Amino acid sequence: LYAPERTNSRGLDLADPDALSALDDALVRARERPWRATAVVGGREVGGPEREIRNPSDRRETIGLVREADAALVPEAFGLAADAQPAWDSSGGAARAERLDAAGEALEAAMPELAGLIVREGGRTLADAVAEVREAVDACRYYAARARREFAAPERLPGPTGESNELWLRGRGVFACISPWNFPVAIFTGQVAAALAAGNAVVAKPARQTPLAAAHVIRLLHGAGIPADVLHFLPGSGGRLGNALLADPRLAGVAFTGSTETAWTLQQRLAERRSAIVPLIAETGGQNALIADSSALAEQLVPDVIASAFDSAGQRCSALRVLFVQTDIADRVLDLLADAMGELTIGDPVRLSTDIGPVIDDDAVRALLPHDSRMRADARVLREMSLPPGTEHGSFFAPRVFELDRLDRLDREVFGPILHVIRYEGGALDRVIDAVNATGYGLTLGVHSRIESTWQRVRERARAGNVYVNRNMIGAVVGVQPFGGEGLSGTGPKAGGPHYLRRFAVERAVTVNT
Ligand code: NAD
Ligand code: ALA
Repeated sequence: LYAPERTNSRGLDLADPDALSALDDALVRARERPWRATAVVGGREVGGPEREIRNPSDRRETIGLVREADAALVPEAFGLAADAQPAWDSSGGAARAERLDAAGEALEAAMPELAGLIVREGGRTLADAVAEVREAVDACRYYAARARREFAAPERLPGPTGESNELWLRGRGVFACISPWNFPVAIFTGQVAAALAAGNAVVAKPARQTPLAAAHVIRLLHGAGIPADVLHFLPGSGGRLGNALLADPRLAGVAFTGSTETAWTLQQRLAERRSAIVPLIAETGGQNALIADSSALAEQLVPDVIASAFDSAGQRCSALRVLFVQTDIADRVLDLLADAMGELTIGDPVRLSTDIGPVIDDDAVRALLPHDSRMRADARVLREMSLPPGTEHGSFFAPRVFELDRLDRLDREVFGPILHVIRYEGGALDRVIDAVNATGYGLTLGVHSRIESTWQRVRERARAGNVYVNRNMIGAVVGVQPFGGEGLSGTGPKAGGPHYLRRFAVERAVTVNT
């Protein structure tokens, strides 16, 4: 079921001197190269005036230039895509899989330069950037394997003698793929690869903050044989392009990853359409908790809390936001946590020693400040790191931990390196799970406990898409931890899972009386 006929990419071993030197070279080349992103429609580079993309670690540095799409380009992209889609769809799952496998190869070969670009444009650490490219490669290969399995031939169904029944999966038409900046390569590639694998043409819109990495992926996909009239690229702001994308009568589906608030806007726009009714696949934010009971091993728990809350500067949808810790072990855990935070290095992620890079831009810093002020008034500051010299020209936000008395003091996802802690008494496990469920979000949930009945209880009662027991709660692997949430966290089906492609497809039953 989980498509064993492919293996996950091994990425780069950052302990291997050769791999590190390839990455170093790529970082130097990435610095020297004037990266460019341009809207690409039917293979033609188009787009408006140039806009500079700045390095979030040091805003004085321009990384590259983007020429964004105008809303007037949307109908042209949809027209070409709609014309090309039937042939792409008819080519069959096996032929599409071949192209996607080639795309996976191309991305893997470009791993150092893509990782370098992610570090510089997205401010992600080297380890995160390599893991992200690996995830993009995995997505191409996994959806290729699924396309071979599900889209190459119809499923034969039973019926009376003299009748044949078949169920065919076909592409829906033209998909709009709208992605966030926090995984500028993995999520961008994952959406596009899934839509293509299922037989759709794609109009892809990356996040406004990270068009350069996405543009490089597009170059590699086109170079690997994905036809230019099947895959179009429209960088630009959601506000400017969104209405045209969602209103186009040729739109057959939307794959969106981003905030819950934007998903509501998209839902509203789709409801206003008076043309085909189309699916919205939305993967959105979380208010993710980790519950540690008194049997948890503090020495194992604390590194998992640090990784879950502060990796990628807390800018993962899967990131830990609220640690519930049973009162009996709370003081010890919080002391260890404070000590462990003292060991973290904040700085430019081009250095391998950096644990915490910048947030994506100054707007992201400003968005965290009101919550920070509120917490200073309503909660207790448990630990707050300070920014080291050398970070003053970047968009940095120091990790911090607040202790709260109740979860309902948090009303929405706060997207950055801020962890909240709540103590709970033994015997209150069900109340904790109910409080987490009551947030309405349901993305990731962690449990640290050596008592099997505790994690079984959590698994039974919690409404969360990805539950992690006695480990960190980030970094889902394609085909291993299918990823995605429920409620305010998204519609499903899970990315990197065996049911994902079906949502990008229509089912057609054909009955023949022979
Ligand atoms: P966002 O919602 O601001 O933007 C996401 C994308 O939507 C961008 O490409 C943006 O330009 C576009 N957009 C914005 N308004 C639009 C409109 N009116 N019409 C069409 N497109 C529009 O999110 P973000 O800040 O880029 O990303 C961070 C958010 O993404 C967080 O909430 C995070 O939890 C979530 N996220 C979820 C997952 C997941 O798998 N569940 C993964 C990564 C990020
Ligand atoms: N899939 C990403 C993770 O698991 C968001 O961290």
